[in-house]
Amino acid sequence: MEGTYQWMLVCFICVNTLPALLSEKCLSKSQKTHLYLATKSPYRYLINKNDSSVHYPGCNVLRMWMIVRHGTRYPGSKIIRKMRERLPVLRDSVIQNHKLKRGRLCNEEIAALQTWSSHVEETDEKRLAHEGEDEMVELAERFQNRFPQILPDVYTNSTFKFQFTATQRTTESARHFTVGLFGRRVSRHVWFPEAIYRDPVLRFYKLCQRWRVEVDKNPYSLLERTKFEEGPEMSAALKDVSFHLGFNETMNIGDAILLYITCSFETAWDHRAQSPWCAAFSESNMKVFEYAEDLEHYWIDGYGYNITYKQACPPVKDMMQHFLAEEIPGDEPKAQAVVYFAHSGTLLKMLAHLGLYKDENALLHSNFNTVGKYRKWRVSQIDSFGANLAFILFRCNGQLKVLTLHQEKPVTLPGCPKFDLCPLNVLKQQYKESFTDCNFNDICALSPEAA
Ligand SMILES: *[C@@H]1O[C@H](CO)[C@@H](O)[C@H](O)[C@H]1NC(C)=O
Ligand SMILES: *[C@@H]1O[C@H](CO)[C@@H](O)[C@H](O)[C@H]1NC(C)=O
Ligand SMILES: *[C@@H]1O[C@H](CO)[C@@H](O)[C@H](O)[C@H]1NC(C)=O
Ligand SMILES: *[C@@H]1O[C@H](CO)[C@@H](O)[C@H](O)[C@H]1NC(C)=O
Repeated sequence: MEGTYQWMLVCFICVNTLPALLSEKCLSKSQKTHLYLATKSPYRYLINKNDSSVHYPGCNVLRMWMIVRHGTRYPGSKIIRKMRERLPVLRDSVIQNHKLKRGRLCNEEIAALQTWSSHVEETDEKRLAHEGEDEMVELAERFQNRFPQILPDVYTNSTFKFQFTATQRTTESARHFTVGLFGRRVSRHVWFPEAIYRDPVLRFYKLCQRWRVEVDKNPYSLLERTKFEEGPEMSAALKDVSFHLGFNETMNIGDAILLYITCSFETAWDHRAQSPWCAAFSESNMKVFEYAEDLEHYWIDGYGYNITYKQACPPVKDMMQHFLAEEIPGDEPKAQAVVYFAHSGTLLKMLAHLGLYKDENALLHSNFNTVGKYRKWRVSQIDSFGANLAFILFRCNGQLKVLTLHQEKPVTLPGCPKFDLCPLNVLKQQYKESFTDCNFNDICALSPEAA
């Protein structure tokens, strides 16, 4: 009797699991799509988990200057509208394709699409997401653990300088950063200066006419991206994605990019569940869409045009001045820690101004498989949500030295010793122009031809 029951149980299990075992493999399970989300990458894949306190023999930590991109946010209203209007149509077609036995999505991936609907409203436009709040709280906690002397957990107005741009996402990022430092209750009493519309340090590029005309609004800046989108790699990726989803015709690039962006945002928002839209892409498809993003940022926010990074002297000057104040004897110590909350456009231009992540050859539509393959300029890594760049000033046996951390990891600035702190004097020499010659209005004056 008991034996029969056991057999029945075994049979019950096999009848119920057999179809699932027989259905095709779920390809998305083995694909690390989350590594290629460009500027929509959440910070959690980049965290430096080692937050033990930082010591250099013979050195005391004195000051810190840090700039942080706001955490994970919601998209702009145009993308939200497309997510709400276009994605349900695509979802239904993909499900229909599957019913007609077309495409390579497995049952589980289809089931996830079937229950998918858009949860973003247009009123969420560019607001900091819950994930973005957590990113800021935890980032602050790790930095405090590393440098408890300059980021004490007791709040005093005079030792901290916070500043954010006039947007909800940077304001809320700053607030959550202070939650991480001082706890929720005290954070409510932190004093923040009023945000400045077009802040000349945090969002200098909004004030740079020359950059706006010659780069930002110049259709030529998008040429490499556009050509890449029309080239063989993208064409192959589009065919592959379309076939994967069961379309018998190649989808248009607008739809494909919408899927890529949705995969990116939904991955960023939710650290527990995978976005069903990511299942449309293999890792190698993702690399193609990622490169299109890198090309755009290279030519608009990076090394593509000199003016783009030349204009980024104000934050570098601000940082140098904060540190040079230490050399003035008897100067009352003002804020020890300066923490700014800004944007992707600020961070990228500043990285390029400093000479970081510079590839020897320009990124072009035609070199995805050569220069592009080994490029340093990868916004998925260098410009994620919550991307951060910190400079920490030490006094080591009487000499002032600087530690530079990007994404919480030490980076070597040009001219500085590898694997060691950089003497402040070396930085003064290296970035001399940035602080003695930061004539923003001259740099940004329209050239006569353009005016
Ligand atoms: C963690 O960071 C500290 C401070 O930077 C360093 O001294 C230590 O070697 C690191 N530990 C590991 C396991 O990397
Ligand atoms: C904090 O300090 C600033 C000057 O740095 C001052 O303007 C502000 O009133 C102070 N706020 C509080 C609450 O003390
Ligand atoms: C593509 O699929 C549609 C139905 O989704 C069908 O009407 C059409 O004939 C197909 N085209 C080709 C070329 O197979
Ligand atoms: C841009 O900068 C590079 C290196 O500093 C220089 O060689 C080049 O001539 C500059 N180009 C323009 C257009 O100013």
